[in-house]
Amino acid sequence: MNELDTLLASAQAAFAQAATPADLENAKAQYLGKSGRVTELMKGMAALSVDEKKSRGAAINVLKQGIEAALTARRQALAEAELQAQLKAEALDVSLPGRQRGTGGLHPVSLTQERIEQIFASMGFDVADGPEIESDWHSFTSLNNPPNHPARSMQDTFYVDINGADGIPYNLRPHTSPMQVRFAQAHVKKYAGVSPMPEVRVIAPGRTYRVDSDATHSPMFHQCEGLWLGENVSFKDLKVVVTNFCRTFFESDDLALRFRPSFFPFTEPSAEIDIQFQSGPLSGKWLEVGGSGQVHPQVVRNMGLDPETHIGFAFGMGMDRLTMLRYGVNDLRQFFEGDMRFLSQFR
Ligand code: PHE
Repeated sequence: MNELDTLLASAQAAFAQAATPADLENAKAQYLGKSGRVTELMKGMAALSVDEKKSRGAAINVLKQGIEAALTARRQALAEAELQAQLKAEALDVSLPGRQRGTGGLHPVSLTQERIEQIFASMGFDVADGPEIESDWHSFTSLNNPPNHPARSMQDTFYVDINGADGIPYNLRPHTSPMQVRFAQAHVKKYAGVSPMPEVRVIAPGRTYRVDSDATHSPMFHQCEGLWLGENVSFKDLKVVVTNFCRTFFESDDLALRFRPSFFPFTEPSAEIDIQFQSGPLSGKWLEVGGSGQVHPQVVRNMGLDPETHIGFAFGMGMDRLTMLRYGVNDLRQFFEGDMRFLSQFR
């Protein structure tokens, strides 16, 4: 091997050893740089004859091209290796499942409320909302339930630490019935001087509270009040409206209803509303879904109306109860535990 071949082999070996582009540039300088080995060889030609210069020059050029070719090949190899390393580091597993954004859903009791509102709206009822912290007058007295009357103990009420104008503490409303008087009073005011006054036809769904807790009672629960007052509204209309509602709500035309005589201070006569499915797991059982009755004359007076000209009916239904019956849920507490395994079934 002559001197030039040895030099080429040593350059190739040096380039092969360079592990990084910077190493490679250092190695290049040793051969092709200003004082590199090839440059030294060129300088050494000065002392040669013209003929010798020709053949030596050609040989050095071949060497130089060989070294440059080796350099280019190594540069490409290093760049390729760097690219591969980068690709490996930034590897993306496209088969991994994506991060999903959960689609929310309404709570089953909210679904029931929406359904109730739709059905009653189709029968011409307004939908009203009222306060959950009520005065004693609205929750009890206006509903013909005077202070110290024993019927008050039908509801174990939560009281708030603030007294109303009457010196009696505010309460967390134990039913939605205060909305009967609130809404009717506002209606009378709104249509003052309008004759005849439009009928009051309203439902008022919302949260209610009682000191009660077991599988079928919760301290916070949901009711929907209904009120229809006019000059000629009778118990027959109550039966039609409630029957139509229940059959639509449960999508069951042969659903049987029973108005079982009962007592509420604010209605006379009063009735519990019981329903009976003719098929399915609950078939044949009578199930209570609410209370109802003809609005008591004293309550009509408290609304600012004359019971001689205005008559009507009211009802209050348990929205949690309706939800349990519709979906076959048997523990009311599941509605309030926030367990996604339960709730996501209603999406
Ligand atoms: N407020 C009564 C209850 O909570 C239900 C009811 C409403 C009864 C309207 C009659 C009329 O039990």
